[in-house]
Amino acid sequence: MDMRDRDVIDLDMDVEADEGRPEEELRDSVRKMALLGDRAIATIMKSYASLPEPVAIIGNGPALDFLYQNPPCKALLERYHAGETRSFAAALWRQMGPQILAAIKHGISDPAGGFMWKGDIAFKRRDKLTLDLKAHIFPLWMESEGGNRPPLYSVYFDDMTTDRHGFQRLYLDSLLKASLSKDNETGLHVQRVNFYSRRLALALYESEPEAWREIDRDFIEDIGWLAAMHDVGKIGVPERILSKNGPLTEDEWVEMREHPITGALILASFPNRMAQDIARSHHERWNGSGYPFNLLETAIPLSARIVAMSDVYDALRTRRPYKEPMSHGTAVTMIVKDGGSHFDPGLTKTFLSVASDFAAIHDANRDEERA
Ligand SMILES: [Fe+2]
Ligand SMILES: [Fe+2]
Repeated sequence: MDMRDRDVIDLDMDVEADEGRPEEELRDSVRKMALLGDRAIATIMKSYASLPEPVAIIGNGPALDFLYQNPPCKALLERYHAGETRSFAAALWRQMGPQILAAIKHGISDPAGGFMWKGDIAFKRRDKLTLDLKAHIFPLWMESEGGNRPPLYSVYFDDMTTDRHGFQRLYLDSLLKASLSKDNETGLHVQRVNFYSRRLALALYESEPEAWREIDRDFIEDIGWLAAMHDVGKIGVPERILSKNGPLTEDEWVEMREHPITGALILASFPNRMAQDIARSHHERWNGSGYPFNLLETAIPLSARIVAMSDVYDALRTRRPYKEPMSHGTAVTMIVKDGGSHFDPGLTKTFLSVASDFAAIHDANRDEERA
């Protein structure tokens, strides 16, 4: 698109309604553009209207007002209510704080950098999954303005959320497969621990959002697949110990108890910290009698406290060479009894309220009974 294109558009006649976008609204934006003094901008905007990528036009005032958002951009920002506001600065400020805004403002007013800014933006809300965007802002010059600052900017957004999660999952899935190939736990066990943990986190979020401020949509989603990583460190425990058909000796226990630290080391470079919190602390106990660090109460990360409960529930329900599986009712009674000693007593009430879902998850994902 040539920004110097002087083709005159009949603003009132030439604007067709986009699908899913009220005609009146589009006309309104076009009028606003026209007021800015150059009809060529209306041509650019019209071309944006049919682009599949999210793109917006913003003004150069301190608020970086949104002058136009194409339908994909509106849809994207509305998912986070960031589109509610008429200004890019307000949306960013609320979501990301002043630093990013200062960086953007500096970039787009710096002639040496070509009045551009490129970088990552994350829109976070407690009740939504975080939206990770790459934003590319570049100037729109207009002939009539002259001036030494661009009067308008285009902002292209690239939604990285799905890519990033997909990549992270692939990375951890292979690690998980490697560790499970050694451990005598099944893939279904870790899957069930994922499901229980997600269910419990969701129940805490819904029943007592003020008491569990740390839990947001990201937390619920993350624990729903990172809980499976709790025993990844067992990859470092000798096979003769992992597959031993009977009680471990004290020396063997010493080696076994290293798995949380090994797991945390393996996951140390993983971008989501929850993974290593879970690996490191899922054997800690509320009263400080757990391992590896005898952490006490809330010094144990919440994600690990949730996974500990889920993991133990599943272990109690599972047949081992040396024990029969427990019934759902007995397992629940034992866990509730251990609230305040082994488990966070704040979790047990909510656990009780969703215990029937734990039973359903267990039954729907049963291990094949081995002969
Ligand atoms: Fe473990
Ligand atoms: Fe486990």
